[in-house]
Amino acid sequence: MDYDVKDLSLAETGAARLEWDTRQMPVLQSIRTRFEREQPFNGLRVAVCLHVTTKTANLVLTVKAGGADVTVCASNPLSTQDDVAACLVARHGIPTFAIKGEDEETYARHLRTVLDGQPALLMDDGADLVTTVHSAYPALIDTLIGGTEETTTGVIRLRSMERTGVLRFPVVAVNESDTKHLFDNRYGTGQSALDGIIRATNVLLAGSTVVVCGYGWCGRGLAASAAGLGANVTVTEVNPIRALEAAMDGYRVMRMIDAAAAGRLFITVTGNRRVIDGTHLDAMPDGAILANAGHFNVEIDLEALRARTVGVRRIRPFVDEYCLADGRRLYVLGEGRLVNLVAGEGHPAGVMDLSFANQALAAEYLVRHRGTLAPRIHTLPPEIDHGIARLKLDTMGIRLDTLTPEQETYLTSWQQGT
Ligand SMILES: NC(=O)c1ccc[n+]([C@@H]2O[C@H](COP(=O)([O-])OP(=O)(O)OC[C@H]3O[C@@H](n4cnc5c(N)ncnc54)[C@H](O)[C@@H]3O)[C@@H](O)[C@H]2O)c1
Repeated sequence: MDYDVKDLSLAETGAARLEWDTRQMPVLQSIRTRFEREQPFNGLRVAVCLHVTTKTANLVLTVKAGGADVTVCASNPLSTQDDVAACLVARHGIPTFAIKGEDEETYARHLRTVLDGQPALLMDDGADLVTTVHSAYPALIDTLIGGTEETTTGVIRLRSMERTGVLRFPVVAVNESDTKHLFDNRYGTGQSALDGIIRATNVLLAGSTVVVCGYGWCGRGLAASAAGLGANVTVTEVNPIRALEAAMDGYRVMRMIDAAAAGRLFITVTGNRRVIDGTHLDAMPDGAILANAGHFNVEIDLEALRARTVGVRRIRPFVDEYCLADGRRLYVLGEGRLVNLVAGEGHPAGVMDLSFANQALAAEYLVRHRGTLAPRIHTLPPEIDHGIARLKLDTMGIRLDTLTPEQETYLTSWQQGT
């Protein structure tokens, strides 16, 4: 079996961590049990390009249990958990191509390696597999059943492909399920990005000014978590509705140029580029810490930072100190890549249980509707979304009410008023 991981001797640690997180993913486990019985992917090759973490390992094992022949690569050069990659290879015989810290060339080679295996299904996080197929593997397009996409940034790229008529096979946007973005993006990023920042820096958040750039699903979670730890939270936005929401949620809202001077810790989570640019860097106080939780490492203008820098040193793991020509020092975490995955362990398994239940069911949905789905972006039907929420509620021991027939009639009629 071909593979490229850091060190197979890490497999035992990976297996123990995987076992721990499996216990937090009961919904995915129940799907795995059904897949074992029904074999929806019998004999199908599946290429998985996700952050190689314990949670992804659980998803991979679930798809494999459903009969698939799975190959795995990373969706980010710095997010791989090497012990998990080793465990996938050594304990589960899954060809895995992912090494934490791999350079961009190796990252791209690993993507190509999983595509060389002629997969019938793609699982993507950021759309790197789908875009690579369209640009470099046109012959694969006709045999592909479709793909799934995990994150907001990937969906944005796919929408652009769809809009311009480039997208040539169906993709299920997992991120659009309520049981994905409402929970993973909000509570997952809210907790894990701060966890990564705290692990990397051990700074006190209480009383500190934290600037959250972008008040989308992730930004809302981050702002709430930082406020919960006693930080004074400032939000920057470009969307007036989101800015208003942030203001009414109790945060200070201001332009980035004003926030730059006021903040101590800056976290970008917009999915956009150069959200913190050179002019903002010029306004930041000595000692400011910059982190990114958005998908790609384009949100902080590192080029502009380097242009102002006379020296860089790694002062702690995942913390680079940039000494600027004017004497200030700015600190960048995880080279501006997803801080929760680089400096922490990514989202807690309890929330990825929902996201990866969506991934597993999206893959099954594509197979069950093979040949009937148009080459565009699809979302999972509400029954599947609600089904996942119900399963999760069950595992949490939470019961909910059901509508009485009278209430159902009332909610679907227009004749009954006061
Ligand atoms: N770290 C993680 O584990 C993780 C998890 C989920 C999503 N993500 C990524 O995080 C990013 C945000 O995802 P989301 O679901 O919150 O997206 P979203 O679309 O809900 O929110 C993004 C927000 O950023 C705002 N924005 C855009 N440009 C801006 C700018 N220049 N300044 C200030 N605000 C700006 C938008 O108006 C929007 O409100 C995406 O890249 C997504 O892929 C990361």
